[in-house]
Amino acid sequence: MTLMLGIESSCDETAAAVVDGDRCVRSSIVASQHDLHEVYAGVVPEVASRAHLECISPVIRQACRDAGVALQDIDAIAVGNAPGLIGSLLVGTSAAKALAWSLGVPLIGVHHVLAHLHAAALDAPPLPLPAVGLVASGGHTHVYRLDDDGTANALTWTIDDAIGEAFDKAGTMLRAGYPGGPAVEALAATGDGTGIDLPIGRPKAGGFSFSGLKTALLYALRGQPRRVDGTTVFPRELDDVPSEVRANHAAAFQSAAVAGLERGLRAALNDAGEFGALIAGGGVIANTAVRSMLERVASDAQVPLRLPTRAYCVDNAAMIAGAGLAQFERGHHADLHLQALARLTLGVSS
Ligand code: KG4
Ligand code: ZN
Repeated sequence: MTLMLGIESSCDETAAAVVDGDRCVRSSIVASQHDLHEVYAGVVPEVASRAHLECISPVIRQACRDAGVALQDIDAIAVGNAPGLIGSLLVGTSAAKALAWSLGVPLIGVHHVLAHLHAAALDAPPLPLPAVGLVASGGHTHVYRLDDDGTANALTWTIDDAIGEAFDKAGTMLRAGYPGGPAVEALAATGDGTGIDLPIGRPKAGGFSFSGLKTALLYALRGQPRRVDGTTVFPRELDDVPSEVRANHAAAFQSAAVAGLERGLRAALNDAGEFGALIAGGGVIANTAVRSMLERVASDAQVPLRLPTRAYCVDNAAMIAGAGLAQFERGHHADLHLQALARLTLGVSS
């Protein structure tokens, strides 16, 4: 049975995993840097790449130990080489190249965003293709059509912020904690958004939009700003917003964000042609309200829904190994010229 070592370092998680040819996850180690970035309420690229450098070797060793395998047992190495923070990507890509060269095994470059969709096949049956896949993460809100020849074509995307980015900014405004997504979800569960009117993104040309919602939340919390002597003055500071008001606005924000995601997804499905399943992945798919919305959408489209478990929604290396296996099975390998790329737009081959 093929054993794939996956390596992920595109943002603020250093991760390694061993996944076999049946997509059984033999081990998955994720070293999060959240505590390092929390004080800045966002990822600091230079801090992230230094932390990756410190963690990458121990994390790979631990993944092999947990899987009960030696490095020499690994058949191929998959690495998330794009897109992401360039300094961070370079750490994982360099480690993967060095290991592939020293072990004499194939190296596979994986597109991080597409890998989020392969997470739905981990410890689960193969993905039924063709399918439509929604990636909702901190950096992306994209819908792809996945075909059985391994190609992925973007059907639609956000015209401004990614939905996870909007959750993170809302988390800061609501003083909910970092990262914002899970913190806003937890706060929303304690509130009631009824009667709070926040806008649902409706871009004219289709796709998703979350930046108007973010600004509307700011104004709802701080009041309408006035210009006084050339500066913008708000009636209230965010720190002075009462906790009950925060909880109610967290609930209203989450409802509007999920409604915007649903609207854009339904429009994309109408243009997707024939497909056999709806797949989703990315950190925001860990959200219970998002998962319930996806169940409704898939049921209306009369297709099965394939979601990763919550642990494989957020960044991890098992999904990188899973996406790497799909390429390995098609005979697609990279060579030691594989580059780390901060940006790489799809449709490309998966
Ligand atoms: O996929 P991911 O781990 O990293 C990227 O590729 O960006 O996604 C991280 C994003 C963050 O914006 C985080 O706030 C969001 O996913 N997120 C959530 C939840 N858990 C993570 N958003 C909403 N609800 C959640 N439960
Ligand atoms: Zn991701």
